[in-house]
Amino acid sequence: KKVLVLHGPNLNLLGTREPEIYGSATLADINNLLKEDADKAGIGINFKQSNYEGELIEAIQQSSDYDYIILNAGAFTHYSIAIRDAIASVRTPVIEVHLSNIHKREAFRSNSVIAPVAVGQICGLGVGSYIAALQYIITELTGAKK
Ligand code: DQA
Repeated sequence: KKVLVLHGPNLNLLGTREPEIYGSATLADINNLLKEDADKAGIGINFKQSNYEGELIEAIQQSSDYDYIILNAGAFTHYSIAIRDAIASVRTPVIEVHLSNIHKREAFRSNSVIAPVAVGQICGLGVGSYIAALQYIITELTGAKK
């Protein structure tokens, strides 16, 4: 069992990027936390960050080896029909995550064009949004809820 964590544009700057909104954890910190939880659960996990829409689309298109994708599409969330269509084109289920609560910020952030093709959306919990998404996946994949 295997999970892909996809981070979109500007998330490579976490730690120094608007820490009052996104917190002080770096992308490596987030990935390390997720890796620990995945290891404990015996689940494989890979990480990719890209500032390019096309690279994110290709990663989604090539995700057939994965059981789930955790996706923070960054600002693409709000307008990338191409990423939405990529998600709709593959069987790999996608959990949408955001560090910040996109529903209590600028109005343009509250709309996600990805949400209608995602399993669900977790936002506003900081690093906890990713951890909660992975916890859900672990429960689904290992049957821990049964
Ligand atoms: C974000 C929220 C987006 O609106 C923003 O463009 C980001 C980060 C988040 O994780 O809170 O880049 O996806």
